[in-house]
Amino acid sequence: SDRAYVIDEMISAKAIAARIEELCREISTEYKDTDKLVVVGLLRGSFVFIADLVRELDLPIEVDFLEASSYGDSMESSREVRILKDLRGAIEGRDVLVVEDIVDTGHTLNHVTHLLQSRMPKRLKSIALLDKPSRREVDFRSDWIGFEIPDEFVVGYGIDYAQRNRNLPFIGKVRFTED
Ligand code: PRP
Ligand code: MN
Ligand code: MG
Repeated sequence: SDRAYVIDEMISAKAIAARIEELCREISTEYKDTDKLVVVGLLRGSFVFIADLVRELDLPIEVDFLEASSYGDSMESSREVRILKDLRGAIEGRDVLVVEDIVDTGHTLNHVTHLLQSRMPKRLKSIALLDKPSRREVDFRSDWIGFEIPDEFVVGYGIDYAQRNRNLPFIGKVRFTED
């Protein structure tokens, strides 16, 4: 898009780091008996979150990635989730944690959760850094949530607007400055 906008900070890098520490204590307790946890990042939005998350987990882990895209470059969910890249490894009988940047309508994580559940993992849970419950179109709730946020257009910390701003170290909200 070529509409002019500015980005206002909404959640600081420091607040994100503090919340990740809390969440990782809970997750490490939940999976404390695991032989190895498969941490699955949903590309591309989760790449920053998963990098910080795994470094705070006090567990033996491996990482894998899956790409499921619903938005592409548009601001609207297509509601049709496509698997663009599947996991490298099998998850049958494994402990699995799916890592997502944001749950909006819920279509992406709902679809991925059902897909991975059909592969008979031992334990499958999910974590999302951000949750916008007011936007939900399917009945889905992540097991762990970093921050519940209002219906604002957010960017940064992995999240893009037309593929830009993923590298901001904080979560910001987009404010359009003209129509
Ligand atoms: C975004 C975001 C989530 C999903 C959430 O991904 O990263 O994966 O949309 O929306 P939903 O709950 O309405 O499904 P996107 O499809 O933009 O791909 P990206 O991660 O590569 O940016
Ligand atoms: Mn995504
Ligand atoms: Mg996107």
